[in-house]
Amino acid sequence: MCGIVGYVGPRPALDVVVEGLRRLEYRGYDSAGVAIVGDNELQIAKKAGRIENLDKLIASESATRAITGNTGMGHTRWATHGAPNDRNAHPHLDASGRIAVVHNGIIENFSALRAELESAGVEFVSETDTETVAHLVAAHLTAHGGSLADATRAVARRLQGAFTLVLLDAEQPEVVVAARRNSPLVLGVGYGETFLGSDVAAFIEYTREAVELGQDQVVEIRRDGYTITGFDGTPVTGRPFHIDWDLAAAEKGGFDYFMLKEMQEQPGAVRDTLLGHLVDGQIMLDEQRLDRQDLREIDKVFIVACGTAYHAGLIGKQAIEHWTRIPVEVEMASEFRYRDPVLSRQTLVVAISQSGETADTLEAVRHAREQNAKVLSICNTNGAQIPRESDAVLYTHAGPEIGVAATKTFVAQVAAVELVGLALAQARGTKYGDEITTEFDALCAVPDQISAALAAMEPVRELAREIASAKAILFIGRHVGYPVALEGALKLKELAYMHAEGFAAGELKHGPIALIEDGLPVVVVMPSPTGRPVLHQKMLSNVAEIKARGARTIVIAEAGDAAAREHADHLIEVPALPTLMSPFVTTIPLQVLAAEIALARGCDIDKPRNLAKSVTVE
Ligand code: AGP
Repeated sequence: MCGIVGYVGPRPALDVVVEGLRRLEYRGYDSAGVAIVGDNELQIAKKAGRIENLDKLIASESATRAITGNTGMGHTRWATHGAPNDRNAHPHLDASGRIAVVHNGIIENFSALRAELESAGVEFVSETDTETVAHLVAAHLTAHGGSLADATRAVARRLQGAFTLVLLDAEQPEVVVAARRNSPLVLGVGYGETFLGSDVAAFIEYTREAVELGQDQVVEIRRDGYTITGFDGTPVTGRPFHIDWDLAAAEKGGFDYFMLKEMQEQPGAVRDTLLGHLVDGQIMLDEQRLDRQDLREIDKVFIVACGTAYHAGLIGKQAIEHWTRIPVEVEMASEFRYRDPVLSRQTLVVAISQSGETADTLEAVRHAREQNAKVLSICNTNGAQIPRESDAVLYTHAGPEIGVAATKTFVAQVAAVELVGLALAQARGTKYGDEITTEFDALCAVPDQISAALAAMEPVRELAREIASAKAILFIGRHVGYPVALEGALKLKELAYMHAEGFAAGELKHGPIALIEDGLPVVVVMPSPTGRPVLHQKMLSNVAEIKARGARTIVIAEAGDAAAREHADHLIEVPALPTLMSPFVTTIPLQVLAAEIALARGCDIDKPRNLAKSVTVE
């Protein structure tokens, strides 16, 4: 949510900033704006809607005011306070036009601060919480002088809530200053130029050297480097890291949409996530601040996550319980901390988050740690807040995922959570070493099977075009097929704006079967006839029941499942895999179905309406 770019260096700042905003588009936004300092003057352009609208505005005004300068910042806004219109778009200025601010997050005490400023005669031009910061910083500089960084620190100390703030001062044109609490921001270090970004995609074109910023820190960037302090002015050293992917990974590579490219990258995402995690017969995590004894003592696991990551958690539950015999509960992170879950030192909370920024998951992690539970996070973003606040980390190596719909990160998360299951089984001795190796080897065979599934998707695309005008589609599954059904329904909702629901097939008779009517497409995720014969039989009965009531059945079944063929109006075969690994392939046709239906309905599958890639507000 919200994208932020900052730049100081020799290049025209407008180009760097607008290009950076484009690379952050995937985060979700509804207006965009830039501020550039040139000749000790702030030049602002901002516009509701897509970045193209901002481009047009800048082009249309170029004859009368060219935006030039080598210091600047940009922002894509996902509205929280105030409608997504031109006036509320960022940057915001103080009354004199000296200070410009962009902001990601929510300033919770902004009403009180606004009232204080208004009683001192300040007139607000927007409805945003952000504008208060511009006025407060300007007031501080007028009253106390000093640097922009000093004023930012003083104001940041007064703010409650979550924020990344980036500021420009027309009178200090060689610096950009940022403050960070609970909202993402990273620093990019080039030769004679320095960058800020909500994530590294903002500056990957120019440098692969980055620095993590911590909580409650202020950073001043200059051409020759940067200075980081706490809000109290104490110097701080940031943690440098090298970005292990490049510009090509963040581009479409010949596909019309990032999502289509990312779906094809799924075999690599799983392969890279598994790579190097079995060493001398031992499952290794990436960062381990827990010792073996801690893992041995775990008697309860909670998995907390949102959306697609939650579905990966539901699959992980089956694997962890099966391999370790430890009870596992999977909770939506947004519910977890508000219901007072029973946690202890022997509880392991596994937080799954692609971005590592999701506010609900981050707060669940904090709640767990406050209650002395251990936290292990699974994350796709090096240096993000959730892994930094965890006791152990396992990174998914899916590379950047730009499409809002999670695809390759989902399969990578399933691989990672299954690795966690094996690590726990190993620590607790519920599996012998050779059994761990066998399961790990089975996981390593998955990428080839995903490739095989992807290669056979043409009939699914054709089917998608046939059913694209359906009113609704239902998805049913059992055991690990149930979270796959939920994921299929989520993909369809978010991409095609179509009513879709996922159900545990056994629940149909308890209500949802009333939804079945003539011609309603129902996608069935079939259990394996050999791996789960009893469930397979039960599912055949469920399919017969809905077919008898007019449903058009689209059955996803293991290759060679003859019984499934008999019940299917459309049969989609996927490679056979052990039950706990079957979601890696059963999920593929559901992704393809959702993407193709969405495209047939004219939807932008990379940027679905109303959605943000990472949800950084609760
Ligand atoms: C799914 O396609 C969505 N992008 C969404 O459900 C996502 O999985 C969820 O918001 C969690 O994000 P995270 O993995 O970054 O925490």
